[in-house]
Amino acid sequence: MSKNKNLYIETYGCQMNFSDSEIVSSIMLENDFRITDDITNADTIFINTCSIRENAEQRVRKRLKELNAQKRKNPNLKIGVLGCMAERLKDKLLEEELIIDLIAGPDSYRDLPKLINTVEAGQKAANVILSEEETYANINPVRISTNGVSAFISIMRGCQNYCSYCVVPYTRGKERSRDPESIVNEAQQLFDDGYREVTLLGQNVNSYRWENEYKLNFAGLLEKVALVNPLLRVRFATSHPKDISDELLKIIAKYENICNSIHLPIQSGSTKILKLMNRKYTREWYMNRIEAIKKIIPGCTISTDIISGFCTETEDDHQETLSIMNEVEYYYAFMFKYSERPGTMAAKKLKDDVPKETKSHRLKEIIDIQQKLSHQSNLNDLGKTFNVLIEGTSKKSDQELFGRNSENKVCVFPKENFKPGDYVKVKITKCTTATLIGESVGG
Ligand code: SAH
Ligand code: SF4
Ligand code: F3S
Repeated sequence: MSKNKNLYIETYGCQMNFSDSEIVSSIMLENDFRITDDITNADTIFINTCSIRENAEQRVRKRLKELNAQKRKNPNLKIGVLGCMAERLKDKLLEEELIIDLIAGPDSYRDLPKLINTVEAGQKAANVILSEEETYANINPVRISTNGVSAFISIMRGCQNYCSYCVVPYTRGKERSRDPESIVNEAQQLFDDGYREVTLLGQNVNSYRWENEYKLNFAGLLEKVALVNPLLRVRFATSHPKDISDELLKIIAKYENICNSIHLPIQSGSTKILKLMNRKYTREWYMNRIEAIKKIIPGCTISTDIISGFCTETEDDHQETLSIMNEVEYYYAFMFKYSERPGTMAAKKLKDDVPKETKSHRLKEIIDIQQKLSHQSNLNDLGKTFNVLIEGTSKKSDQELFGRNSENKVCVFPKENFKPGDYVKVKITKCTTATLIGESVGG
C-alpha cells in the first residue's frame, strides 16, 4: 500500500534520538519508503521529539503549527510524532494536536510500518509501549546526514537512575544493554565503510553490563571496540560520575585510539543540591574521580552539564557550582536553567522555588565562567602538536579543513592535499574560545 512513499524525518533532542532516527530510517527503507531531505516532497513526516526541558517540547509544538500549513496544501500528508514527547504525553498528544496521525514511543519503532498502514486506512495510530528488552540490536542503522568519518553506535537504552529532575526514565524505560557482538560488528562494518571514529552512546554508558553467555562491563566493551582497528577512534557519552571506575580509566589510558576526553556531568557543585537531585554522589566523590582522571589520563579534557536554579538552590549553593567549575577546569559545558518536568520526583516532592530571574542571572554567571575556562584551556594548547582526524571543510573557508584532536577540540588548518578521514599532525598557533587554529606538520 505504501510503495515508494517519501519520508522526511526531523529530529530534536539528544544524540540518542538522532541515532534512533537512523534506526527508524532503516526500518522504513525496508518497507518501501524512500528517505527524502526535501520536506516539500514528503508524503510522510516524522518528528522525533525530546521532552527534557519545557522549551524542547514548545519547539515541537511550534513546529507542528507550521506543518499545519503544509498539510492544508497536501491533505494526504501524514504526520507522525516519535520519541520522548510521544511517550510522555501518549494519547493526550493526539487529542491536543489534531494534525498528528500517528504517535510512536522509543521502543515501538519496529511497529511503524503497521502503524502507517492503519493511518493509510484512515485511522489514527499509536504505540507507546515500553519494552524491557528492545535494543534494536539486529537493525543496521542508515547513516543520515553523515560526514562519512564519524558515526554513533547506541550501546544501551533507557535509564533507571531517576535523577529527581529528569524525565528520561519515564520516556525511555528501563536500562538495558545491547549484545556486545552486534556492537563490535557495527564498529567493524563502519570501519570497513571508511569511518574512522565511533561514539558509543547511552544515558549512562559506564553501567553497561552484558550478563548472558559471558559477562562484560563497559571497560571490557570499550576495549573490544578499541581492538577493532587502531585507526578507529573510540569516544563515548554519557558517563555518570557515580560509577566511573579506575578500571575504565586505565583502559582509556592503555589504548591510543580511545579518546582522551570524558563527559562527566556534575549538575551542581553543592552536595546538598546533589542529594535533592538524587545524583548519588557528593562534591568530594566527584572531585576524587576528577583527580583519578587527571592522574591516570594526563591531558584528558573534561566536559560537563550544569543545571542552574534547582529547587531550594541558595546563592551559596550556586557559588559552590562556580567554584567546582574553576577547580575542574572544564573545557566545555552544556548549561541549562532548571525546568520542572511533570511526573518527576522533583515535581512531586519539591517546590520550584528559585525565581526565573535568579535562574537566568545564575546561568549567565555559569556561562561567563565557562567562556573563560574554554578560552584558557585553548590558550594552554598553543604550541602543542595534535593528531587530528579530519572531518570536513571549515565553515569559514573552503581552503581550510577541520577535525578534532583526541581531546575532542575542534582544530582548523590549511587544506593542502588532505581529505576527510585522514589523520594529520597539526601544530597549534592560534585559538579562539571554541577553536584551535594551526598548520599541518606532516600526516
Ligand atoms: N544521562 C545524562 C544526561 C541526559 S539529559 C546524565 O545523567 O548526565 C542531558 C542534560 O540535560 C542533563 O545532564 C541535565 O543537565 C539536563 N537536564 C535534564 N533534565 C533537566 C531539567 N528538568 N531541567 C534542566 N535541565 C535538565
Ligand atoms: Fe536523566 Fe539522571 Fe538518567 Fe541522566 S542519569 S538520563 S540525568 S535520570
Ligand atoms: Fe530528550 Fe529523550 Fe534524549 S527527553 S534528551 S530525546 S532521551
